[in-house]
Amino acid sequence: MSFYIAGTGSALPEKVVSNDDLAQFLDTSDEWIYTRTGIKRRHILTDERLDDLAVRSAEIALQDAGVAGKDLDLILCATMRGDTFTPSLACIVAEAVGATAPAFDLNAACVGVLYAMEVADSFIVSGKAKNVLIVSAEAMSKLLDWTDRASCVLFGDGAGAMVVKAGEGRLSGVLSTKPDSHVIRMPNIEGLNSPYNKIEQEKLAMHMDGGEVYKFAVNAMGKNIEQACARAQLTPAEIDWYLPHQANLRIIDASLKKFKIDKSKVLTNIEDCGNMSATSVMVLLDQFAKKGTFKRGDKLLFVAFGGGLTSGAVIINWNKD
Ligand code: UT7
Repeated sequence: MSFYIAGTGSALPEKVVSNDDLAQFLDTSDEWIYTRTGIKRRHILTDERLDDLAVRSAEIALQDAGVAGKDLDLILCATMRGDTFTPSLACIVAEAVGATAPAFDLNAACVGVLYAMEVADSFIVSGKAKNVLIVSAEAMSKLLDWTDRASCVLFGDGAGAMVVKAGEGRLSGVLSTKPDSHVIRMPNIEGLNSPYNKIEQEKLAMHMDGGEVYKFAVNAMGKNIEQACARAQLTPAEIDWYLPHQANLRIIDASLKKFKIDKSKVLTNIEDCGNMSATSVMVLLDQFAKKGTFKRGDKLLFVAFGGGLTSGAVIINWNKD
């Protein structure tokens, strides 16, 4: 007994920013961005709040699952930063959906949703929860240095959610870290108001060694796919749908190449959404679920990598009509 996915939801900001829009103020081009990453456009927050997107995606997922907020036993939110440090984004969602279940945020960068799925599994297996809401929301546009063309062109904003219920569905999960504080680093505000603080503020922007991230990602995703398949006693060829983190189309292709998987099994939305950190796989899941792509009994493999450095893979049986 573990969990199955009973409902999904997502919400994206209205504003769409194309590569050509970025080329208006950055020394870049649609050609460079698209050929290096597969990204054409991304959604960016303007006058909407991240909180509201997170709540909207949660409401859609709850309705899809036929679960009321009051019947939730746990709410997890995978995010690097909500609109407020406290209350957590998970508590804001809890209030909006009428839940009083334990609620907390979890930060494993782009792998956050997979970490949250594994936490949900532990709560369900130990009998502490039956209905769990997992939300993910990221306002990447508010964390970036918009003068750094090497990083700001890669990301977008968004929110997504899934309701998982006790039952048969999850087949295996693998979580890993290769701790490294430099390869991807996004500093927090250092003692802004403290008269005692003596630590110099690092520049508030993403620092990233793109080449090193690329190498880590290809290696870690390949390894985590093998491990998750071995634990589920499946071969990579037996997976019906791959839902990889949407960081770079070349990374997705390179990490899956050795498995010789039919490309039509590999789902992407990077062209229209860019990299939404943890939220990427959640929005991907909802978009393809709503298109009717998954049939009961299909095996879905989620795989992701991100800052930390973190990585992981989760395999589930799609047990939803
Ligand atoms: O969720 C995890 C987040 N991080 C990632 O997923 C990042 C993983 N890494 C990557 O996706 C790739 O390494 C990048 C897309 C970031 C970069 O691609 P690359 O093929 O490794 O390019 P590069 O860093 O080697 O840069 C090549 C050239 C450089 O110019 P020079 O030194 O050759 O003259 C860059 O300055 O491209 C230049 N460049 C750009 N040119 C136009 C870097 N960014 C841009 C840009 N537009 N936006």
